[in-house]
Amino acid sequence: MTLEDFKLNTKEEFAKAKQRAVSDPDSFWGEIASTFVWKTPFEKVVQYDWNDSHSTEWFCGGKLNITESCLDRHVETHPDKLALIWEPNEPQDTAVKLTYKELLDAVCKFANGLNNLGVTKGDRVCIYLPMVPELTIAVLACARIGAIHSVVFAGFSASALAARIQDSSCSILITADGAFRGGKTVPLKDIADDALKSCDSIKKCIVLQHTFESISWNNRLDVWWHDFIDGLSTSCTPQVMDAEDKLFILYTSGSTGKPKGMVHTCGGYMVYTAYSFMNVFQYQQDDIYWCTADIGWITGHSYMVYGPLLVGATSVHFEGVPSYPNWNRFWEICEKYKVNQFYTAPTAIRALAKHPTTHVTNHDLSSLKVLGSVGEPINEEAWHWYDENVGKSKVPIVDTWWQTETGGILISSLAGVTDQKPTFATLPLPGIQAALVDDKANVLMDTKAEGILTINYPWPSIARTIWGDHKRYQEVYFSAFPGRYFPGDGASRDENGNYRITGRVDDVVIVSGHNLGTAPIENAINEHAEVVESAVVGYPHDIKGNALMAYVILYGTSENPEILIQEIRDLISKTIGPIAKPDRILIVSGLPKTRSGKIMRRILRKIASNEMDQLGDISTLLNPEIVDEIKKALS
Ligand code: WT7
Repeated sequence: MTLEDFKLNTKEEFAKAKQRAVSDPDSFWGEIASTFVWKTPFEKVVQYDWNDSHSTEWFCGGKLNITESCLDRHVETHPDKLALIWEPNEPQDTAVKLTYKELLDAVCKFANGLNNLGVTKGDRVCIYLPMVPELTIAVLACARIGAIHSVVFAGFSASALAARIQDSSCSILITADGAFRGGKTVPLKDIADDALKSCDSIKKCIVLQHTFESISWNNRLDVWWHDFIDGLSTSCTPQVMDAEDKLFILYTSGSTGKPKGMVHTCGGYMVYTAYSFMNVFQYQQDDIYWCTADIGWITGHSYMVYGPLLVGATSVHFEGVPSYPNWNRFWEICEKYKVNQFYTAPTAIRALAKHPTTHVTNHDLSSLKVLGSVGEPINEEAWHWYDENVGKSKVPIVDTWWQTETGGILISSLAGVTDQKPTFATLPLPGIQAALVDDKANVLMDTKAEGILTINYPWPSIARTIWGDHKRYQEVYFSAFPGRYFPGDGASRDENGNYRITGRVDDVVIVSGHNLGTAPIENAINEHAEVVESAVVGYPHDIKGNALMAYVILYGTSENPEILIQEIRDLISKTIGPIAKPDRILIVSGLPKTRSGKIMRRILRKIASNEMDQLGDISTLLNPEIVDEIKKALS
């Protein structure tokens, strides 16, 4: 049997798979898993305890190296098939095309370099690179030798990078001189240098020459990427990994200060990303697939690197942004490479929709077979714009709901196979046992219902723990509804069982598809010497989905509020990154609080959203008068 044999081509096959995944998960997942390359077959399909230790294990006893299923086995059958088409920031620059054979060679070379440095199984390697082919190569090279990769998005600041390096004590940093982003360059090496001032664990910094700008150099630490791989062999024996050995760490923000290092393991992640990729996107062997995400996020890990390579797909990776040199770039690339599956985020769709449709209609998009959306709820308007202008009302849209923690897509339609419904992620994939509960943990039995989303049974790619803090993992995901996984999202369900994700139910705000905890932003603001306290909330925004508003209390009165606000913005940019900068910062003399001293964020959200008539009963507040003051300050 091959993975293709598990492709769901009809609604009936989908229904059958769903039924079987519940009634006999062991044979369902066991058969799928057996289609990959194993050094030693697994003995037990799944073993879990979601009540006490909160542990999940898949394919127990199995030994493998994920890169053999991603690369070596394709090289055996079709070495010259393209794995990667890399489109640079500048349209006139040359694209890089890598076949499976070329990619394997490059991965092995770099892996040998890491080996020479003494990097071994279980060591952590931090990757802070722009969206270049070397990012994929570095990720897979780590996997090849069993090092745990921790990719940090190249838009993060020095202190965010340092915090992530420190948390998992990485011994190697891989970065570049700089990154191109549309008309701008980002001085990555400078940022990395700044971060490394507080990272003693780093023994070597491998620097890719990309922008060719001058950088400062530390002879003890730094080595050029091209020198590093010079003369190394293109074959590298893959490290034998246990199915439950750690493959990577990826940080995501939570509702309290510190980022959570979500840990994914080799076996289950491999099986689920491949299965979900093939089925959701209905990938066929000669298709060209393009996901516009960055490998710095989970979408890039699962559906730009691992999922597509496991299936033997050809993927487009794009270095730039949708607006550069102008707003037709995405469609130009779709036309240029005859893209068949196109996967992007609602925030990009909304930004594109603000510009004349001629940007779209001037291009031949007839190759498109599937459109995808990910990262936040897609609103009705954006959905229809995508459908009509890009898909010409005949291309299926998959709205894929999942998270860094879930490793792969849990709720989505299968393109052209199961029914789609605007703004609904639709049905859980086979093996995903979703349920809605109310806030007292009662399961909502009616098909049509609205509540909090939970998952009641493990799937292969669930994150196994938070790096160094299993207790936090247990608390965040398993304590609200004992025995169930709690993703932190609210959802409704229609009479046919379709799910519509309504948004976060915790203090995480999704801005332009980026998951931002409000607590770390508040901590950054509070660092300012003039600030006593602050509260950050999200409110609806036309393009970004949500924008942030910060309410700030000062010790005294500011001499120059404009400068102060700029300083606060810089502080946030420096501590977290530019993506976390609030759209609005309001200086107030107090915050609405309960009698026990808890900030009433609900009220602050309503005010920020300009829903002044929906504040509810504020008379029980400790300081109801503050609400009027804030309202006045805003108008
Ligand atoms: C949160 C996870 C999944 C990869 C990118 C984001 C929201 C994600 C959807 C969707 C509605 C969505 C959820 C989720 N979200 N996809 N299709 N519809 N909401 O990963 O940064 O871990 O964020 O993004 O709120 O919990 P992430």
